Parts: sequence; C-alpha cells; structure tokens
Amino acid sequence: MHVSHLSLADFRSYARVEVPLDPGVTAFVGPNGQGKTNLVEAVGYLATLGSHRVSSDAPLVRMGADRAIVRAAVVQGERQQLVELELNPGKANRARINRSSQVRPRDVLGIVRTVLFAPEDLALVKGDPGERRRFLDELITTRSPRMAGVRSDYDRVLKQRNTLLKTAALARRHGGRRGAPPARADSSVGADLSTLDVWDQHLARAGAELLAQRFDLIAALRPLADKAYEQLAPGGGPLGLEYRGSAGEVPAAGNREELYGVLLAALGEARRNEIERGVTLVGPHRDDLLLKLGQLPAKGYASHGESWSYALALRLASYELLRAEGNEPVLILDDVFAELDTRRRERLAELVAPGEQVLVTAAVDDDVPGVLAGARYAVSGGTVERVER
Ligand SMILES: Nc1ncnc2c1ncn2[C@@H]1O[C@H](COP(=O)(O)OP(=O)(O)OP(=O)(O)O)[C@@H](O)[C@H]1O
Ligand SMILES: [Mg+2]
Repeated sequence: MHVSHLSLADFRSYARVEVPLDPGVTAFVGPNGQGKTNLVEAVGYLATLGSHRVSSDAPLVRMGADRAIVRAAVVQGERQQLVELELNPGKANRARINRSSQVRPRDVLGIVRTVLFAPEDLALVKGDPGERRRFLDELITTRSPRMAGVRSDYDRVLKQRNTLLKTAALARRHGGRRGAPPARADSSVGADLSTLDVWDQHLARAGAELLAQRFDLIAALRPLADKAYEQLAPGGGPLGLEYRGSAGEVPAAGNREELYGVLLAALGEARRNEIERGVTLVGPHRDDLLLKLGQLPAKGYASHGESWSYALALRLASYELLRAEGNEPVLILDDVFAELDTRRRERLAELVAPGEQVLVTAAVDDDVPGVLAGARYAVSGGTVERVER
C-alpha cells in the first residue's frame, strides 16, 4: 500500500499542511527542527495509533490548539481509502474511514501499514524490556489488527488485577496494625481475593493469545533479521533472538490451550508473592526478548555501531516479513543515513530502493544516497514544498 496524500491540522508544529505523495521514494530534506520527523511521525501514528517518540498524545497537538487531525488517502491495489484521526488529549480520540460516520480509532488499524526506523530505535537494543515488548506487540498488531483488541483486553485485566492485589497488600499491612478493624478488613480482602481466580483466567486467556503471537513472530523474524544484519554488516553476526518469559519454561511451539495452562499455573504459584508485593509478577507484560550478537547479549556488550545495525536489522526484517505476507507497508527511514558510513548507506539504499513507498528524512541533501532518486520536499518554517530537479 502507499499513502497518496497526507493532510495535517494542528499536528505538532503544523497549523495546516497538505502533502501529496507518490509511490516510490520521497525524501524530506531541511535543517534541524523544521518539521521533517513530525510529518513521518503522523504517518506512523495512523499505523500504530501511537508515536515513536512520545507515549502520550498531548505533545502531538500543536501548542495552543486543543486537538489535532491527521488524515491520509491510502491506495492499496485498486482500492482507495481515506482515513482520519482526531487526537483529543485527555478525551477519547475519534476516527473516520471514507468520511463516513465515526468508527473506533482501533478500526483504522491495518489500513495504513508502516515500518518506521528512527534514531530512537537504539533503545530497542540498549533500552528496557518494555521497548522490545512494544516492538513485538506493534508488529503483531500490524500483522493482525484484531490483536489490538487482545492487547487492550490484557492491559485492562492487568490493571484491574493489580488494583485488587494492591488493595489486598495494603489491607494486609494495615490489618495487623493496632486500632484497625481486623475482622472487617480481613473478610473484605478474602472476598476480593476470591475474585482473583476469575482475573487469573482472563489474564491467562489474553496472555496466551499474546504469547502465541509473539512466539510465531519471533520464529518468522529470526532468519530475516540474520539476513538483514549480514547485508548491513557482513560477517558480524549471527543474531540470536531468545524469548525470556516470566512464567518459567513455556513451550514455544505450544498451542493456545497449553500456553493458557502454563500461565494459569504460573499465576497460581506466584500468588503468595503477588499478594505480598501487590502487583502481577507473571505474564507477557513482564517478559523480554533477549537479543544476542554472536555469543553475547547485545545489551551491555555491543558497540554503538553494532547496536545501531542490530536495531536497523530488526526493522528491515519486520519490513521483509510484512512484504512477504502480502500487503506491503510504507517504509519510513527517519534520519538514518547520517548515522551510517558510506558503505552501509549504499547497502541500505539498495535494499530499500524497490519498496512500494519509502519516506526518508535527512537534514542535508547529500545524506540521501543517489540510488534513492525520487521526489524531494524542502521542509522549512512550517512549509513543505516540492523541489523540482
Ligand atoms: N506540539 C507542538 N506544538 C508546536 N511545535 C511543536 C510541537 N511539537 C514539536 N514542535 C516543534 O517541532 C519542531 C521539531 O520538528 P521535527 O522533530 O519534525 O524536526 P526535524 O525537522 O525532524 O529536525 P531534525 O533534523 O533535528 O530531526 C521543534 O521545533 C518543536 O519545537
Ligand atoms: Mg527529525
């Protein structure tokens, strides 16, 4: 698929901007801080309902405005669709498809598909487990948009379960104190805790679905990531992608029922500890993806350049995977070329040049490799103007 038109209102630094886009390569070039990343961030938002730079929507709304609108015309084969998101920080966001009446924002997932690589991705390798979980889960949702529902079910159940555990933990601590009414506190905690069984089942059900999808994804990514790394940094690998679960030994090839059973049993075992700590200690939200380079973990061992190539290899693998599965995503490379030496630059450019749509940002024109001939836009002072060459 590709985006044939992007339209923003009060998004980031843009009061209004209209950007017609062609398939193939488009480069946005301009000095620092002029709004290049803001443009591609908006495209990424349509695909994931989130920004690659911030975790909340508030910074995406132009200072002084109270809502932002991101709209895109999307072409997939013969089909044309118009998607629109209205960002209302602090309130529910709204969405429309083809100007018709409103749908849930989640319903637009799958129309715009992107793989976005940006300097922030270094955190995939060097950062906390949460970064890698987000990488996996966003890709899972791109592959299968219905997983957005499973993820939000999981998050909701987790939150409620944690609230219950926290209350129980507090009541335990205070229940033993002089002056507190121990009998009443104990009985209400007992009643609350009996509902934990039900929450365990809900958590294990959604968790098993998420785990199964993560295992399937990792298995599919392994050979592709290895290949991409070899292309970027010949002889530097191999890469190792190993899932580190919080629920002990989990059968990676297990079906949903098996995974459900394993999670439920692990929650049962952890319960005492969880009630003491007041938080859910087992489940996909506590898991990690161990990234190995050769025999060593990349985190803590890999050099800056190696970490950068590793993160890029993961994104290129994601891109290859989505392409192989049919609906080709838009590839977004934000400020990537300046970080690479000439050889790696050329290699990357050759790899991505045939893509259906590739959006590139760069501060200087010379950073965009010659192979990536295509449309150029000059981005400066809130305007985006096509450069005829
Ligand atoms: N909510 C907002 N309201 C107004 N301006 C904003 C908002 N969010 C970001 N900006 C402005 O947008 C500019 C950054 O834009 P962007 O990150 O797209 O720059 P860039 O062209 O990619 O720069 P670089 O080359 O440094 O990566 C900054 O000047 C910032 O102050
Ligand atoms: Mg930028």
